[in-house]
Amino acid sequence: MTVAYEYRPGLEGVPATQSSISYVDGQRGILEYQGIRIDNLAKYSSFLETAYLLIWGELPTQGELDSFEYEIRYHRRLKYRIRDMMKCFPESGHPMDSLQACAAALGLFYSRRALDDPAYIRAAVVRLLAKIPTMVAAFQLMRKGNDPIQPRDDLDYSANFLYMLTEREPDELAAKIFDVCLILHAEHTINASTFSAMVTASTLTDPYAVIASAVGTLAGPLHGGASEEVIVMLEEIGSVENVRPFVEKCIERKARIMGFGHRVYKVKDPRATILQALAEKLFEKFGQDIYYDIAIELEKVVAEKLGHRGIYPNVDFYSGLVYRKLRIPTDLYTPMFAIARVAGWLAHWKEQLEENRIFRPTQIYTGLHDHPYIPIEKRM
Ligand code: SDX
Repeated sequence: MTVAYEYRPGLEGVPATQSSISYVDGQRGILEYQGIRIDNLAKYSSFLETAYLLIWGELPTQGELDSFEYEIRYHRRLKYRIRDMMKCFPESGHPMDSLQACAAALGLFYSRRALDDPAYIRAAVVRLLAKIPTMVAAFQLMRKGNDPIQPRDDLDYSANFLYMLTEREPDELAAKIFDVCLILHAEHTINASTFSAMVTASTLTDPYAVIASAVGTLAGPLHGGASEEVIVMLEEIGSVENVRPFVEKCIERKARIMGFGHRVYKVKDPRATILQALAEKLFEKFGQDIYYDIAIELEKVVAEKLGHRGIYPNVDFYSGLVYRKLRIPTDLYTPMFAIARVAGWLAHWKEQLEENRIFRPTQIYTGLHDHPYIPIEKRM
């Protein structure tokens, strides 16, 4: 006998799984990965160490981390057939669409599925973590008319990505700050793209299709696409003086202010606080950003007008200002998010395989019954 549950739009507040991977306290602004506070990971860890923690549940020993990093380094190179496929992509296309196509295409090279084999799971994790950044960087260079450049063995994960993306020797501080950005974006319980990954994974399809589903979901402006929209919004506001009228107009039109609000956090997203500090570090070294003052004023006015409703900056609000200083093009901000979140998606994919049940919710039917078929000649 199926128990009828209350319909909750967007499944708000409805547990869809049991998981030990991460925890969010939306009232106190706390985020933990496998029980470790995000501020400690941001301060002491690296993205690859954090990815290992999320996926295998423990911080790696030095030996485990070294072999994980070696495997990732070994698999970073772009497959020439994927590069040739990308040559057919329109330069005007969005990098998230390119990434989704490439992630799915990886499945063509690894069609064998052995979801009960830990070696298969590890191989899929390594290939996706290694190749996603390379495919993002390759599309960026190719759409500028340049040949993609292969990874350098003397650079670590984040420095190597900045090198492949910009074709320049990466600045040490910039590479470190980018690595922290990846840690902050790596995982966040059952957000829309992670849920999308889980639904796809529940049919026991291959991990490349799972990641392609999640990339497509993350691209939306209400989710990972917001960081790109924040910069567009700050450009539209244009000055500190325009902030208050802008906010008042949004409230009047019930328009969403990009980079604010969250389904779970009803205080400032702890990741936004860390990203804000990273942005300030970059400004000290590379010069101020005209949009930072606008962002600070916007945070102040939104807190005054909407703070009582729990609407505060989320992870996407300051990430764009960090990426701007790292000279990353605006339409690559969401791919940056995807490079990081692949770790979280894979962690949930692996966890779910341990006790899988295909997702198949129900509905509250609001349509007709026994409706007659009207021949086309009799339809008005
Ligand atoms: C991410 O889930 C995750 O964990 C996501 C994420 C992750 O790490 O994976 O944290 C990453 O996606 C961050 C969110 C990025 N998106 C944005 O910044 C877009 C702007 N934010 C909103 O679209 C919104 O806040 C959501 C989508 C993030 C959350 O929406 P909810 O929980 O469904 O809230 P809601 O739409 O039900 O809004 C409740 C009320 C509404 O007013 P009423 O209709 O009740 O009068 O709050 C208002 C909304 O209008 N509101 C906003 C607002 N967000 C909510 N009003 C103005 N500006 C906003 N940003």
